[in-house]
Amino acid sequence: MTFKYILNGTLAASLFAAAFAVSVPAHAGDTPVPPSALKFTNTVSGDPLDLNDSLPDGRDTPAVKQFLQTGHNPYNLIESCLPNGKSLWLSACSGCHGGEMEGKVGPSLADDYWTYETNKTDQGLFSTIFGGANGMMGPHNQDLTMDQILRVMAWIRFHYEGPKHTDEDMPWLTDAQRKSFKLFKKEDEAKFPASEDAKACKLPG
Ligand code: HEC
Repeated sequence: MTFKYILNGTLAASLFAAAFAVSVPAHAGDTPVPPSALKFTNTVSGDPLDLNDSLPDGRDTPAVKQFLQTGHNPYNLIESCLPNGKSLWLSACSGCHGGEMEGKVGPSLADDYWTYETNKTDQGLFSTIFGGANGMMGPHNQDLTMDQILRVMAWIRFHYEGPKHTDEDMPWLTDAQRKSFKLFKKEDEAKFPASEDAKACKLPG
């Protein structure tokens, strides 16, 4: 009797575990990640990145939805988003890349040299931040939401100072943005004091 009970109990437990593994997504109850036409891969290994490994907040904001469709970060050049992007940069990135992106243990992100050329596109830059690269460049999918990653990316793009760039070096810009885009100058830094107020960051329209 006891033996049979244990057997049945074990069987039931493993059946339950199997059913759980198959039918319940890894993050049941979380906001689903919006559909994307794009494939995201690890910058170094090329292995697929699973966007479901993101934090549950900030997954389906208008900016994330648009980015997952177009591959362009909608927060680029949106001034209301820069103060929060700066604040995120200062807390999550500046320790290794420098307060003004000049480079420390991590490389400068403001010049026209990229270790990984894929970072010239927003899709590639997002993948590096989300999934990490080599050594100390760890993944940031569990300390920044997808929407925060886009805000910090806008702050990075804002810092781009060339200097030997061509238009092909800036594929993150749309043709319309390219017309008004200006390279970063040192004095631009002070125009956008860091702010934790994420709600101030608004897309036009
Ligand atoms: C603990 C230190 C550390 C932190 C924190 C860190 N990085 Fe890095 N980062 C590095 C190192 C080291 C590399 C070089 C890795 C490599 O070459 O594979 C790097 C590389 C990069 C690259 C690739 C640059 C290129 O030339 O292709 C990007 C983009 C980047 N980091 C963005 C960020 C952002 C954004 C943050 C904050 C969310 C951040 N990093 C936080 C250390 C760090």
